Amino acid sequence: MNPETTAVHAGREDLTALGVHVPPLDQSSTYPLPSVESGGAAYERMATGGRPADGDSLVYQRLWNPNVDRFERAVASLEGAEAGVAFASGMAAITACLVATVAAGRPHVVAVRPLYGGTDHLLATGLVGTTVTWATATEVGAAIRPDTGLVVVETPANPSLDLVDISAVVAAAGEVPVLVDNTFATPVLQQPLRLGAALSVHSATKFLGGHGDLLGGVVATNDSWAVRLRQVRALTGGLLAPMSAYQLHRGLQTLPMRVRAQQDTAQVIAAWLDRQFGVARVAYPGLPGGDPHGLVGRQMAGPGSVLAVVLDGGYAAAAAFAEGCRLITHAVSLGGVDTLIQHAAALTHRPVAPEARPNAGLLRISVGLEHPADLIADLDDALRAARAAVDPHRAKELASIR
Ligand SMILES: Cc1ncc(COP(=O)(O)O)c(C=O)c1O
Repeated sequence: MNPETTAVHAGREDLTALGVHVPPLDQSSTYPLPSVESGGAAYERMATGGRPADGDSLVYQRLWNPNVDRFERAVASLEGAEAGVAFASGMAAITACLVATVAAGRPHVVAVRPLYGGTDHLLATGLVGTTVTWATATEVGAAIRPDTGLVVVETPANPSLDLVDISAVVAAAGEVPVLVDNTFATPVLQQPLRLGAALSVHSATKFLGGHGDLLGGVVATNDSWAVRLRQVRALTGGLLAPMSAYQLHRGLQTLPMRVRAQQDTAQVIAAWLDRQFGVARVAYPGLPGGDPHGLVGRQMAGPGSVLAVVLDGGYAAAAAFAEGCRLITHAVSLGGVDTLIQHAAALTHRPVAPEARPNAGLLRISVGLEHPADLIADLDDALRAARAAVDPHRAKELASIR
């Protein structure tokens, strides 16, 4: 099936037999047990990462929830994966992958920067028992050690929009599983498992939900990883809330349409910003020079709808630009129907080590579903504020350069 069809129907296969048109929302925290014996057996199955057997009581929400299961099956279908395992947030999903890696006895992680600041922070602190070697994409093979249990990449990367060649990293990693943070691309544009990755991770908070009203995370993977991740989830308690799973499952139905429409607008915005006085650089895979390895069209079906703009004038200009937006909301997060702007070095990437922190003049923009002309009018006003914030002598100098 094509992604538009899968997005609308996946995870809903049994609704007709249930006699309903939309998934019933099951908020039960606990479930009646037909007998001590059968309840205990069901508990055992799910607490060790298995699925409930036919006729099993679901025992307890931390072990299983039908809305979470539906959302997971829908994500797995879109990603071309055997299974999905959903979590309370993107960070809970990434944490579960790291905990499973440590539990398997190979705690060393090779990670390609840049990564989302929270992921970078989690790896840098070694909070869940991992050690890390930071590498560029081409250094991954050399960084692998006998105790390496995972390679972590993000493509497009947050916030630089750098693209990583997933197949090349998978080849360099050899037997070591590769985790791709697929949050920016979504399964509509990129399916890492088809390129050999073991784990495709999402902050479902972003595009999958799409409306800025929930937190969630999900990992698309094979059945054996799914068992390990469900066990971590059952034991550590990072289950996605049923209501959020319900909303995420509904959000998926419009995902392909949203991703493509937002991407169309992002192309217009990126090209416009790239022509403006006061803009040093626009990072966007859809602009000339934004995709040096030719991955758009090969690895990714399109450049997506997140871009980064680096302003002449550094921090002062960037802060004035973000604060000068009126229609566009100055806020962290991305992937929703409304356009957001944020200063990566000060916010999402604040915990990152200074040598790996984004440029002080960089702002990340997640383009939403508004009309491009309205967004451009707002950005134009904000740019005026940014220019005014720059030292007047410097502004004059910049004018003569451009
Ligand atoms: C690429 C990426 N991965 C992971 C996360 C973490 O997700 P969450 O905030 O849902 O925990 C984020 C959040 O911004 C992100 O942008």
